[in-house]
Amino acid sequence: MDQLTLYAPAKVNLGLKVLRRRADGYHDILSLVQTVNICDRLTFRRVDGSDIVVECPDPEIPTGADNLVVRAARSLMTWMDMKTGFMIHLEKRIPAGAGLGGGSSDAAATLRGVNRMLGGPCDRETLHGLAAQVGSDVPFLLEGGTAVMEGRGERLRPLQAALLDLVLVFPEAAVDTPWAFQNMKIGLTDEAPYIRFLNSLPAFERLDVDRLIDSLENDFLPLVADRFPQVGAAFEAVGETSPRAASLSGTGSTVYGIYDSPANAVRAAEHLSKLGFRALVCRSLPAPLEDPEL
Ligand code: C5P
Repeated sequence: MDQLTLYAPAKVNLGLKVLRRRADGYHDILSLVQTVNICDRLTFRRVDGSDIVVECPDPEIPTGADNLVVRAARSLMTWMDMKTGFMIHLEKRIPAGAGLGGGSSDAAATLRGVNRMLGGPCDRETLHGLAAQVGSDVPFLLEGGTAVMEGRGERLRPLQAALLDLVLVFPEAAVDTPWAFQNMKIGLTDEAPYIRFLNSLPAFERLDVDRLIDSLENDFLPLVADRFPQVGAAFEAVGETSPRAASLSGTGSTVYGIYDSPANAVRAAEHLSKLGFRALVCRSLPAPLEDPEL
């Protein structure tokens, strides 16, 4: 196989609670995560030599050694103790710094893509281990679909695929994830309805969307809306479009609403666009994304 194209979907955190700070500098979290049909596109090509080269037409995206695509490809090569040259073309559709896991999803697609092009030397467990080293959200994005995320994000409990109509709003703000984790106040959260709800969900259970909506909470919303008034304004505007629920994805800055029909989501997005917000309708994307052999 000389060339392969894969799609890397965005994720939305449908609620997020920070449980505790850990000795390793990370935080234990609990979050219901869902992939949606806004995707980056990656094309992998084997080339002579041993370099991993990422090309991206978007000048805002750095393509050097810190790019998660490069880190993911290198981690796989290191594990295999070999060096193969790859040219990886990255077409961005997922806004960066938006809490939608764009870079993490590109890394997950790279692990899948490079592994597949090399004949599949890594099994699923090994890929998950490498993914967790690249970033906390990367293991989930290897799988996609609907899952409860625990630990620092790498421990996953998959659920039956949920069908959700969403509107995403992108305020002009890039939230620095380490800043958000460092500055949020961890409350006494054990009894939060969201925590009780997620803890009560066995693996492969159907998601009760009404119960999710009743308990939905994101611990970063007060902090991020306070620091970035445009995020607070987006949250209020979404709240006025009659969503079933509205919140922030991850540490933001994306604000989303969940709607009871595709038509209501379209109406809400049109209204928000008229108010000057950058709004996009999307749907949940069920697992598996592709790659049944992974
Ligand atoms: O794992 P990842 O590299 O995506 O995390 C980026 C940063 O976000 C970490 O360096 C850490 O500051 C913070 N983080 C955290 N707890 C998590 C996930 C991320 O403190 N569960």
